[in-house]
Amino acid sequence: MLAIIGGSGLTQLSSLEVTRRKVVRTPYGEPSGALTFGTIRNTEVIFLARHGYGHTIPPHEVNYRANTWALHSEEASDVVSVASVGGIRPDLVPGTLVVPDQIIDYTDGRKSTFFSTTDRSVTHIDFTFPYCEQLRRRLLKAAATAGEHMAAGGTYAATQGPRLETAAEINRVERDGADMVGMTGMPEAALAREIGLCYAAIAVVVNHAAGRGASATGIRLTDILAVSQNAMARVRNILDHLVTLDGD
Ligand code: HPA
Repeated sequence: MLAIIGGSGLTQLSSLEVTRRKVVRTPYGEPSGALTFGTIRNTEVIFLARHGYGHTIPPHEVNYRANTWALHSEEASDVVSVASVGGIRPDLVPGTLVVPDQIIDYTDGRKSTFFSTTDRSVTHIDFTFPYCEQLRRRLLKAAATAGEHMAAGGTYAATQGPRLETAAEINRVERDGADMVGMTGMPEAALAREIGLCYAAIAVVVNHAAGRGASATGIRLTDILAVSQNAMARVRNILDHLVTLDGD
């Protein structure tokens, strides 16, 4: 079953016909909220708002372990993460949608593994390619079917937040090879891999990264909101098409 983790600007899915909500208890504490079960075009999906349904949980306080564990325990096999980012690569201007293919992790102090408790033996997951390639391809196909442009790859820098970056930090992550910057991509992707979920992301560029383009003199949250509303409508359209693609 497909699960969707919605980020800022996507706390609900308009085309989701909700059938039930379930509070899932996990060994890692509380997920961001009850899981919402429902159907999109008659296909069952699970939805979870990463920051809580009232958008009250900041990126560094999201319980990523509880969220991924809860989705897995309710038989999700595939997870699409929707997450806002700042664009660094010149073509990643506000309003662009991207399916990233790589990650650099700059987060710090987050609970980032299921293997830190004594009840599991240590395992080193392969994370060479952090996103599930099959789901990435399906997302790109869904976008093409929906008539929405979506950039086919890029490196996602996961920063700690909740503050935005300095211009110098953006220069540094760009030198490292990052194309976009967000605050929630890790440890979510790694935990999904650890627990065996096929995980991919739609990154929604809602602003130029700090010091770049229209953000040369600063980032205005009001501008972000307007871009985000429009872009999330396109994300919903892509998700509607994703659920109806057959197979691969
Ligand atoms: N930086 C980090 N996270 C973000 C940004 C950004 O510029 N925009 C949206 N999420």
